Amino acid sequence: MAGISDAPFRDLCARFGAGLTPSEMITSDTALWTTRKTRLRLRAHKSQRPEIVQIAGYDPDMMASAAAEAASLGAAVVDINLGCPAKKVCRRAAGSALLKEPQLVARIFARVVAAAGVPVTAKIRTGWCAESRNGLDIARIAEDNGVAAVTVHGRTRACKFSGQAEYETIRRIKRAVAIPVIANGDIDSAEKARAVLDYTGADGVMIGRAARGRPWIFAELRKHFRCSTTTDENLSLTSVRDIILEHLDSLYRFYGESTGVRVSRKHLAWYAEHQAGGRRFRQRVMAVETATEQLRLAREFFADEAHEACAERERSRGERRADKNKHETIIKKESQEKEIQVAVDGRQEPVLRHAH
Ligand SMILES: Cc1cc2nc3c(=O)[nH]c(=O)nc-3n(C[C@H](O)[C@H](O)[C@H](O)COP(=O)(O)O)c2cc1C
Repeated sequence: MAGISDAPFRDLCARFGAGLTPSEMITSDTALWTTRKTRLRLRAHKSQRPEIVQIAGYDPDMMASAAAEAASLGAAVVDINLGCPAKKVCRRAAGSALLKEPQLVARIFARVVAAAGVPVTAKIRTGWCAESRNGLDIARIAEDNGVAAVTVHGRTRACKFSGQAEYETIRRIKRAVAIPVIANGDIDSAEKARAVLDYTGADGVMIGRAARGRPWIFAELRKHFRCSTTTDENLSLTSVRDIILEHLDSLYRFYGESTGVRVSRKHLAWYAEHQAGGRRFRQRVMAVETATEQLRLAREFFADEAHEACAERERSRGERRADKNKHETIIKKESQEKEIQVAVDGRQEPVLRHAH
């Protein structure tokens, strides 16, 4: 996620067990790779993970050069963005705008795969709009041109981020192609991940927004799916407060104090979202300008709780609220359409559980 998944955040998610942690998207115009913003986006994180660099662009030759350059800088995988709905990207027929130009997409895939020298993956949406839901065609073009895997966000470009993700198109794509398909969109718990995997048959799930302020969601998923744990063992001994403080520290070191403090504000707001008194804390934290003061506020606000105690507290609060709001995840398989609807009433409370 651009503006969120920087190297410190990816490192934290990877330490909690995220299998693959792609970079924020980077322009395929390598002339711009000298800017501070892009240089930081290209920085690898510390974990021993394959580095995935995502590129966005529209010109097959430029994208091929960018992919080769990324690989030469250490990318183990190059991901192509066909999902971004932002106008800045779309005006230049990049990101999700490419979905309207399948022939251009084929040329981009072919050129990038030939030039990269490392596996190339693609991130797509289900189509441009409800009337043009061509995600399946795009996935086939990807497979035919040597793309190694596709991640599908279950929304069209027209949906942007509104409404609920639909998983029927992802299911169809999974049935139609042999390359791995990763399902994405509105997955915010292990239970939801299981429901989506069961319905779509996808090979994996991608989690975006639900990881904001909750990077331990990956540990929850690993535990739920009984994956052999690859989480950082030291983290299981660390309190939630210490994780947040460590995250802040890594942001100051990565960006320098001034930018680090600014970037940290949004992470702190997400961490505090479900805590009592979170609103007041957010107001206070927005006003401070120094790392020392920000750390002090964070140290004071976030209780020094062990994971299990914290998990228990959050779980019971979540259960109470779930009763009240009739929180439920319903999968309706409508006979003709076989449309999946995952209706979630009320947002799930975070469960700060930790993998062992
Ligand atoms: C702030 C923000 C920035 C994003 N940036 C990117 C990006 O750079 N590349 C990309 O492929 N998707 C990007 N996305 C889309 C997410 O990867 C994901 O497809 C989308 O948020 C739906 O998944 P979720 O419901 O798990 O968040 C971004 C999403 C958000 C909210």
